Amino acid sequence: MTGAPPPPVWPSLSDREAGSELIYRDNPDRFSGPPSRFCEWAFPRLNDRFRRGQLLELGCGTGRDARRFAAAGYQVTATDYSVTAIDHARADIANPPEIRFRRTDALSALRDTLTASLDAVYAHAIYMMVPEDELTAVFREVRRVLHPGGLHLFAVRSTTDPMAGRGEQVAPDVWRRTPGTAPYRYFRRETIDRLTGPAFERVAIEFPEGLHFWYVADRRP
Ligand SMILES: C[S@@+](CC[C@H](N)C(=O)[O-])C[C@H]1O[C@@H](n2cnc3c(N)ncnc32)[C@H](O)[C@@H]1O
Repeated sequence: MTGAPPPPVWPSLSDREAGSELIYRDNPDRFSGPPSRFCEWAFPRLNDRFRRGQLLELGCGTGRDARRFAAAGYQVTATDYSVTAIDHARADIANPPEIRFRRTDALSALRDTLTASLDAVYAHAIYMMVPEDELTAVFREVRRVLHPGGLHLFAVRSTTDPMAGRGEQVAPDVWRRTPGTAPYRYFRRETIDRLTGPAFERVAIEFPEGLHFWYVADRRP
């Protein structure tokens, strides 16, 4: 006799969207303020190559990093799947005209983008919340939308984080902190290298002291 199949490890896209929505409704200023440390790391790496250009941000939250790039003259499309986050992002009076906010999930945002049309795809602290198969598709799409020489700039939390290992382990390097919540992936260097594979050339990878984050800049050959 066979029992019911186990529930899937990752919630559906709509459930993940709803989970993010709840977080922003409770605390819309959760990720507001000055640009992130990763943005300050990524900015010169982009600016050294392209003084101006087209940038797509995935998981922009309320737009703190998107505003930094747009203020410097980049044409920024900043996307997030939380309605509340995007509403707050749009309402910010500091928005430069070069910025456009869209409520959409990361993979759809990429699929809606023309081939070889972008100078950069930027993603700060979002890939930990994306299921394996979707993440593989995201990396494939990032390569498609970048022109040769374009940069994929992303930051992901590492397996050294003290939170890794807490709660229920649901897959290798993936834990659910509390029952009923979405799982969270922590990254090893090998995981990053496997995802980027031969499709990208490494420009820089750093593991800043005390942060438990990998900072990555990859170039589309
Ligand atoms: C930790 S927050 C970081 C926000 C922003 N990058 C920042 O640094 O201010 C992660 C963000 O990613 C968004 N997110 C997670 N998975 C996503 C997906 N598949 N598509 C679009 N947004 C996503 C969440 O809604 C949330 O706003």
